[in-house]
Amino acid sequence: MGITNTVELANGVKMPQLGFGVWKVEDGEEAVNSVKWAIEAGYRSIDTAAAYRNEEGVGRAIKESGVNREDLFITTKLWNADQGYDSTIEAFHTSLNKLGLDYVDLYLIHWPVAGKFKDTWRAFEQLYREGKIRAIGVCNFQEHHLKELMADAEITPMVNQIELHPHLSQEPLRAFCKANDIIVEAWSPLGNGQLLQDAKLKAIAEKYGKSVAQVIIRWDLQNGIVTIPKSVHQERIIQNADVFDFELSAEDIKVIDGMNQDKRTGPDPDNFNF
Ligand code: A2P
Repeated sequence: MGITNTVELANGVKMPQLGFGVWKVEDGEEAVNSVKWAIEAGYRSIDTAAAYRNEEGVGRAIKESGVNREDLFITTKLWNADQGYDSTIEAFHTSLNKLGLDYVDLYLIHWPVAGKFKDTWRAFEQLYREGKIRAIGVCNFQEHHLKELMADAEITPMVNQIELHPHLSQEPLRAFCKANDIIVEAWSPLGNGQLLQDAKLKAIAEKYGKSVAQVIIRWDLQNGIVTIPKSVHQERIIQNADVFDFELSAEDIKVIDGMNQDKRTGPDPDNFNF
Protein backbone atom coordinates (compact mmCIF):
# COMPACT_ATOMS: atom_id res chain seq x y z
CA MET A 1 0.00 0.00 0.00
CA GLY A 2 1.29 3.46 -0.92
CA ILE A 3 0.09 6.92 -1.77
CA THR A 4 -1.33 5.61 -5.05
CA ASN A 5 -3.57 3.20 -3.13
CA THR A 6 -7.22 3.63 -4.15
CA VAL A 7 -10.68 2.70 -2.99
CA GLU A 8 -13.31 1.70 -5.52
CA LEU A 9 -16.50 3.73 -5.70
CA ALA A 10 -19.87 2.09 -6.43
CA ASN A 11 -19.54 2.86 -10.16
CA GLY A 12 -16.07 1.32 -10.40
CA VAL A 13 -14.16 4.62 -10.40
CA LYS A 14 -10.99 4.42 -8.32
CA MET A 15 -10.33 7.21 -5.83
CA PRO A 16 -7.00 7.70 -4.01
CA GLN A 17 -7.43 6.93 -0.32
CA LEU A 18 -5.10 9.74 0.72
CA GLY A 19 -5.68 13.15 -0.77
CA PHE A 20 -4.78 16.76 -0.17
CA GLY A 21 -7.40 19.12 1.28
CA VAL A 22 -7.29 22.86 0.63
CA TRP A 23 -9.93 24.30 2.96
CA LYS A 24 -8.54 27.56 4.40
CA VAL A 25 -5.76 27.69 1.81
CA GLU A 26 -5.66 31.17 0.31
CA ASP A 27 -6.09 31.55 -3.43
CA GLY A 28 -3.04 32.71 -5.35
CA GLU A 29 0.48 31.85 -4.32
CA GLU A 30 -0.48 29.85 -1.24
CA ALA A 31 -2.88 27.58 -3.15
CA VAL A 32 -0.56 27.20 -6.14
CA ASN A 33 2.47 26.36 -4.00
CA SER A 34 0.78 23.96 -1.62
CA VAL A 35 -0.99 22.01 -4.37
CA LYS A 36 2.23 21.83 -6.38
CA TRP A 37 4.13 20.59 -3.32
CA ALA A 38 1.43 18.02 -2.70
CA ILE A 39 1.59 16.72 -6.27
CA GLU A 40 5.39 16.69 -6.08
CA ALA A 41 5.13 14.67 -2.84
CA GLY A 42 3.02 12.09 -4.67
CA TYR A 43 -0.57 13.08 -3.81
CA ARG A 44 -2.86 12.55 -6.80
CA SER A 45 -6.14 13.65 -5.22
CA ILE A 46 -6.94 17.29 -4.50
CA ASP A 47 -10.09 18.33 -2.63
CA THR A 48 -11.37 21.88 -3.12
CA ALA A 49 -14.77 23.61 -3.15
CA ALA A 50 -16.39 26.67 -4.68
CA ALA A 51 -16.72 28.02 -1.12
CA TYR A 52 -12.98 27.82 -0.52
CA ARG A 53 -12.48 30.43 -3.25
CA ASN A 54 -9.24 28.85 -4.38
CA GLU A 55 -10.33 26.84 -7.42
CA GLU A 56 -8.29 29.12 -9.69
CA GLY A 57 -5.08 28.56 -7.73
CA VAL A 58 -5.75 24.83 -7.61
CA GLY A 59 -6.30 24.82 -11.37
CA ARG A 60 -3.08 26.71 -11.99
CA ALA A 61 -1.12 24.27 -9.85
CA ILE A 62 -2.63 21.33 -11.73
CA LYS A 63 -1.53 22.82 -15.05
CA GLU A 64 1.93 23.72 -13.84
CA SER A 65 2.48 20.35 -12.14
CA GLY A 66 3.12 18.62 -15.43
CA VAL A 67 1.19 15.54 -14.26
CA ASN A 68 -1.31 14.16 -16.77
CA ARG A 69 -4.90 15.13 -16.04
CA GLU A 70 -6.05 11.50 -16.11
CA ASP A 71 -3.59 10.66 -13.35
CA LEU A 72 -5.18 13.20 -10.99
CA PHE A 73 -8.42 12.97 -9.04
CA ILE A 74 -9.99 16.39 -8.59
CA THR A 75 -12.91 17.04 -6.26
CA THR A 76 -14.92 20.23 -5.94
CA LYS A 77 -18.19 21.09 -4.21
CA LEU A 78 -21.38 22.99 -4.90
CA TRP A 79 -22.00 25.86 -2.46
CA ASN A 80 -25.30 26.17 -0.58
CA ALA A 81 -26.42 29.41 -2.25
CA ASP A 82 -26.29 27.64 -5.63
CA GLN A 83 -28.51 24.70 -4.69
CA GLY A 84 -31.49 24.07 -6.99
CA TYR A 85 -31.55 22.47 -10.45
CA ASP A 86 -30.62 25.33 -12.82
CA SER A 87 -28.29 27.11 -10.42
CA THR A 88 -26.39 23.88 -9.82
CA ILE A 89 -25.74 23.39 -13.53
CA GLU A 90 -24.53 26.97 -13.77
CA ALA A 91 -22.35 26.79 -10.63
CA PHE A 92 -20.78 23.56 -11.85
CA HIS A 93 -19.66 25.21 -15.07
CA THR A 94 -18.28 28.18 -13.13
CA SER A 95 -16.19 25.79 -11.01
CA LEU A 96 -15.01 23.95 -14.11
CA ASN A 97 -13.93 27.25 -15.70
CA LYS A 98 -12.11 28.40 -12.58
CA LEU A 99 -10.31 25.09 -12.36
CA GLY A 100 -9.52 25.24 -16.07
CA LEU A 101 -10.70 21.65 -16.50
CA ASP A 102 -13.16 19.94 -18.81
CA TYR A 103 -14.35 17.45 -16.20
CA VAL A 104 -14.02 16.81 -12.48
CA ASP A 105 -13.56 13.42 -10.89
CA LEU A 106 -15.91 14.02 -7.99
CA TYR A 107 -18.58 16.67 -7.43
CA LEU A 108 -20.12 16.95 -3.98
CA ILE A 109 -23.11 18.75 -2.44
CA HIS A 110 -21.39 20.76 0.30
CA TRP A 111 -24.21 20.79 2.90
CA PRO A 112 -27.70 19.22 3.11
CA VAL A 113 -29.75 22.38 2.54
CA ALA A 114 -33.31 21.45 3.50
CA GLY A 115 -35.90 21.61 0.74
CA LYS A 116 -33.23 22.01 -1.93
CA PHE A 117 -30.86 19.09 -1.98
CA LYS A 118 -33.18 16.82 -3.97
CA ASP A 119 -33.43 19.25 -6.93
CA THR A 120 -29.70 19.79 -6.65
CA TRP A 121 -29.15 16.04 -6.83
CA ARG A 122 -31.20 15.75 -10.03
CA ALA A 123 -28.77 18.23 -11.60
CA PHE A 124 -25.84 16.18 -10.29
CA GLU A 125 -27.33 13.06 -11.90
CA GLN A 126 -27.74 14.94 -15.18
CA LEU A 127 -24.14 16.24 -15.19
CA TYR A 128 -22.92 12.76 -14.32
CA ARG A 129 -24.86 11.21 -17.21
CA GLU A 130 -23.42 13.83 -19.55
CA GLY A 131 -19.96 12.61 -18.57
CA LYS A 132 -18.81 15.89 -17.03
CA ILE A 133 -18.24 14.29 -13.64
CA ARG A 134 -16.81 10.82 -13.00
CA ALA A 135 -18.51 10.40 -9.63
CA ILE A 136 -21.08 12.28 -7.52
CA GLY A 137 -21.62 12.50 -3.82
CA VAL A 138 -22.48 14.60 -0.81
CA CYS A 139 -20.89 16.11 2.28
CA ASN A 140 -22.17 16.46 5.79
CA PHE A 141 -25.18 14.22 5.24
CA GLN A 142 -26.47 12.44 8.32
CA GLU A 143 -28.21 9.07 7.93
CA HIS A 144 -31.65 10.73 7.72
CA HIS A 145 -30.48 13.12 4.99
CA LEU A 146 -29.10 10.20 2.99
CA LYS A 147 -32.34 8.24 3.39
CA GLU A 148 -34.37 11.24 2.25
CA LEU A 149 -32.15 11.76 -0.79
CA MET A 150 -32.02 8.08 -1.70
CA ALA A 151 -35.81 7.74 -1.51
CA ASP A 152 -36.11 9.55 -4.89
CA ALA A 153 -32.60 9.40 -6.31
CA GLU A 154 -31.77 7.38 -9.40
CA ILE A 155 -28.12 7.27 -8.39
CA THR A 156 -27.01 6.70 -4.81
CA PRO A 157 -24.28 9.13 -3.69
CA MET A 158 -20.93 7.42 -4.12
CA VAL A 159 -19.18 9.40 -1.38
CA ASN A 160 -20.18 11.11 1.86
CA GLN A 161 -17.53 13.53 3.08
CA ILE A 162 -18.01 14.22 6.78
CA GLU A 163 -16.11 15.66 9.71
CA LEU A 164 -14.31 12.63 11.10
CA HIS A 165 -11.35 12.26 13.47
CA PRO A 166 -10.57 10.45 16.72
CA HIS A 167 -12.89 12.75 18.72
CA LEU A 168 -15.71 12.24 16.20
CA SER A 169 -15.36 8.73 14.86
CA GLN A 170 -18.86 8.59 13.32
CA GLU A 171 -19.18 4.82 13.69
CA PRO A 172 -22.98 4.59 13.20
CA LEU A 173 -22.90 6.76 10.06
CA ARG A 174 -19.90 4.83 8.74
CA ALA A 175 -21.83 1.58 9.18
CA PHE A 176 -24.86 2.99 7.33
CA CYS A 177 -22.64 4.21 4.48
CA LYS A 178 -20.86 0.89 4.24
CA ALA A 179 -24.17 -0.97 4.03
CA ASN A 180 -25.20 1.32 1.16
CA ASP A 181 -21.91 1.22 -0.75
CA ILE A 182 -21.11 4.85 0.03
CA ILE A 183 -17.43 5.62 0.60
CA VAL A 184 -16.76 7.75 3.68
CA GLU A 185 -14.27 10.58 3.36
CA ALA A 186 -12.96 12.45 6.40
CA TRP A 187 -12.70 16.23 6.47
CA SER A 188 -10.57 17.86 9.15
CA PRO A 189 -9.00 14.47 9.86
CA LEU A 190 -6.59 16.14 12.29
CA GLY A 191 -9.51 17.75 14.12
CA ASN A 192 -8.52 20.99 12.42
CA GLY A 193 -5.12 20.59 14.06
CA GLN A 194 -6.63 20.44 17.56
CA LEU A 195 -5.81 16.77 18.10
CA LEU A 196 -2.11 17.15 17.52
CA GLN A 197 -1.38 17.89 21.19
CA ASP A 198 -3.43 14.98 22.55
CA ALA A 199 -1.40 13.02 25.16
CA LYS A 200 -2.78 9.58 24.21
CA LEU A 201 -2.01 10.11 20.54
CA LYS A 202 1.40 11.53 21.38
CA ALA A 203 2.27 8.38 23.35
CA ILE A 204 1.23 6.16 20.41
CA ALA A 205 3.15 8.33 17.95
CA GLU A 206 6.32 8.12 20.03
CA LYS A 207 6.13 4.35 20.05
CA TYR A 208 6.20 4.23 16.24
CA GLY A 209 8.66 7.09 15.85
CA LYS A 210 6.00 8.98 13.88
CA SER A 211 4.07 12.23 14.39
CA VAL A 212 0.53 12.46 15.76
CA ALA A 213 -0.65 13.62 12.33
CA GLN A 214 0.83 10.50 10.74
CA VAL A 215 -0.79 8.26 13.36
CA ILE A 216 -4.23 9.77 12.73
CA ILE A 217 -3.84 9.45 8.96
CA ARG A 218 -2.84 5.80 9.44
CA TRP A 219 -5.91 5.24 11.63
CA ASP A 220 -8.07 6.56 8.78
CA LEU A 221 -6.36 4.40 6.17
CA GLN A 222 -6.51 1.22 8.25
CA ASN A 223 -10.21 1.88 8.88
CA GLY A 224 -10.89 2.12 5.13
CA ILE A 225 -11.64 5.85 5.32
CA VAL A 226 -10.59 8.28 2.59
CA THR A 227 -8.69 11.14 4.18
CA ILE A 228 -7.58 14.61 3.04
CA PRO A 229 -5.30 16.36 5.55
CA LYS A 230 -4.56 20.01 4.84
CA SER A 231 -1.34 21.92 5.28
CA VAL A 232 0.30 24.90 3.66
CA HIS A 233 3.78 23.88 4.81
CA GLN A 234 5.86 21.77 2.45
CA GLU A 235 7.49 19.68 5.18
CA ARG A 236 4.10 18.83 6.69
CA ILE A 237 2.61 18.05 3.28
CA ILE A 238 5.48 15.60 2.76
CA GLN A 239 5.18 14.24 6.30
CA ASN A 240 1.44 13.60 5.96
CA ALA A 241 2.10 11.46 2.89
CA ASP A 242 4.90 9.53 4.57
CA VAL A 243 2.60 7.04 6.25
CA PHE A 244 3.20 3.87 4.29
CA ASP A 245 6.23 2.52 6.14
CA PHE A 246 4.45 1.59 9.37
CA GLU A 247 1.24 -0.02 10.54
CA LEU A 248 -0.75 0.60 13.74
CA SER A 249 -1.40 -2.53 15.77
CA ALA A 250 -4.99 -3.69 16.20
CA GLU A 251 -4.63 -2.72 19.85
CA ASP A 252 -3.63 0.86 19.08
CA ILE A 253 -6.45 1.18 16.53
CA LYS A 254 -8.81 0.15 19.34
CA VAL A 255 -7.35 2.74 21.70
CA ILE A 256 -7.90 5.46 19.10
CA ASP A 257 -11.41 4.13 18.30
CA GLY A 258 -12.09 4.51 22.03
CA MET A 259 -11.24 8.23 22.02
CA ASN A 260 -14.55 9.19 20.42
CA GLN A 261 -16.42 12.01 22.18
CA ASP A 262 -18.89 12.85 19.39
CA LYS A 263 -17.18 16.23 19.45
CA ARG A 264 -17.32 18.45 16.37
CA THR A 265 -14.88 21.22 15.53
CA GLY A 266 -17.15 22.43 12.71
CA PRO A 267 -20.88 23.06 12.15
CA ASP A 268 -23.60 20.54 12.99
CA PRO A 269 -25.31 19.26 9.79
CA ASP A 270 -28.63 19.25 11.66
CA ASN A 271 -28.31 22.82 12.81
CA PHE A 272 -26.50 25.18 10.47
CA ASN A 273 -27.68 28.48 9.07
CA PHE A 274 -25.61 29.17 5.98
P1 A2P B 1 -0.76 24.30 8.45
O1 A2P B 1 -1.63 24.40 7.26
O2 A2P B 1 -0.32 25.63 8.95
O3 A2P B 1 0.39 23.33 8.26
P2 A2P B 1 -7.24 19.32 9.28
O4 A2P B 1 -6.75 18.70 8.02
O5 A2P B 1 -7.76 18.38 10.30
O6 A2P B 1 -8.25 20.44 9.02
O7 A2P B 1 -5.99 20.00 10.00
C1 A2P B 1 -5.32 21.04 9.41
C2 A2P B 1 -4.54 21.80 10.47
O8 A2P B 1 -3.47 20.98 10.96
C3 A2P B 1 -3.92 23.03 9.90
O9 A2P B 1 -3.95 24.02 10.90
C4 A2P B 1 -2.48 22.60 9.57
O10 A2P B 1 -1.62 23.71 9.68
C5 A2P B 1 -2.21 21.58 10.65
N1 A2P B 1 -1.32 20.48 10.22
C6 A2P B 1 -1.47 19.70 9.13
N2 A2P B 1 -0.53 18.75 9.06
C7 A2P B 1 0.25 18.92 10.14
C8 A2P B 1 1.39 18.25 10.64
N3 A2P B 1 1.92 17.21 10.01
N4 A2P B 1 1.94 18.71 11.80
C9 A2P B 1 1.41 19.77 12.45
N5 A2P B 1 0.33 20.44 12.02
C10 A2P B 1 -0.25 20.03 10.88
